Amino acid sequence: KTRAIRSEAAAVTANKIDTLDGVDWDNFGFGIRSTDSMYVMKCERGEEWQKGELRPYGNLELSPSAAVLNYGQGLFEGLKAYRTSDGRILLFRPEENALRMLDGADRLSMPAPPVDVFVNAVKQTVLANERWIPPAGKGSLYIRPLLLGSGAVLGLAPAPEYSFIIYVSPVGNYFKGGLAPIDLKVDDYYHRAAPGGTGGVKTIGNYAPVLKTQLSAKGKGYSDVLYLDAVENKYVEEVSSCNIFIVKDNKISTPELRGTILPGITRKSIIELARNFGYEVEERLVSVDDVMGADEVFCTGTAVVVNPVGSVTYDDKRVKYKNAGLGGVAQQLYTALTDIQMGKAEDKLGWVVQ
Ligand code: COI
Repeated sequence: KTRAIRSEAAAVTANKIDTLDGVDWDNFGFGIRSTDSMYVMKCERGEEWQKGELRPYGNLELSPSAAVLNYGQGLFEGLKAYRTSDGRILLFRPEENALRMLDGADRLSMPAPPVDVFVNAVKQTVLANERWIPPAGKGSLYIRPLLLGSGAVLGLAPAPEYSFIIYVSPVGNYFKGGLAPIDLKVDDYYHRAAPGGTGGVKTIGNYAPVLKTQLSAKGKGYSDVLYLDAVENKYVEEVSSCNIFIVKDNKISTPELRGTILPGITRKSIIELARNFGYEVEERLVSVDDVMGADEVFCTGTAVVVNPVGSVTYDDKRVKYKNAGLGGVAQQLYTALTDIQMGKAEDKLGWVVQ
């Protein structure tokens, strides 16, 4: 029996790497690495959240009839921790993730942790994995909070038990090629979200359906897919993993939030930064024709940060953007945002949490 317990413990901690000496911090993409610890907190339906705890990073034990596995009752979040050149650890607007999780939990009939509990759990998880935060200027620690209906159900109903979990992974650039402009393909057959659906919250179920179109686009050499609205098939909504902005005559526009578009925290921050730079920024319906006629296009997201778009293809028409990359609005906003996130610029807007 003792041997069985030992080997179980060894399995849980098997991925604990003793030394990070050989880690090549310069060549991380956006992939999962086993880190040291994860945070787990549970709640019975209708009761308070129990005390959360840090555990060795490892597999979860889940009933095969957990609501999340059978009916998709689950949400996720994404945020990053940065190490500054003077050794501080910074989080970017974590309370915004907590609020978005509360919104999504309401949509999926789940309880969610209060903002202070969420932020505190994020801090604990980051500190427990501190050695995995890349050195200053070499990427970030991506933090993935999950909220799952972990209790067992058979008939369609909210789970009797919920789990709030946080794990982390060190990451570099999201798209292959770093910050090089990406090539997007507009899909006018499949849609990401519909009015009254869940496109405006971060449900796990929003993401698997985009894989088919994404894989097909990648197979044809595109970096990702740009989705259109499901009613008129005319207005752009977002890319599989990020929001979209266009620039025309120095004026910036991004699709307005109307329940089908994810309210990105980077999206919101970029709108504010751009306005502070003096740009006019409009949240409005952005047609695919507006995109095709833009001077510059870029994407924003926690994982993606700010990434210029080099070309957009719609039907058989491909538009290449001259301003993509260095010297464009995207570059200016990328620098302004990441300087705040990395503690290189003064945090005048109070976005950074230590
Ligand atoms: C993020 O940007 O944090 C996301 O959650 C998008 C995900 C598809 C990587």
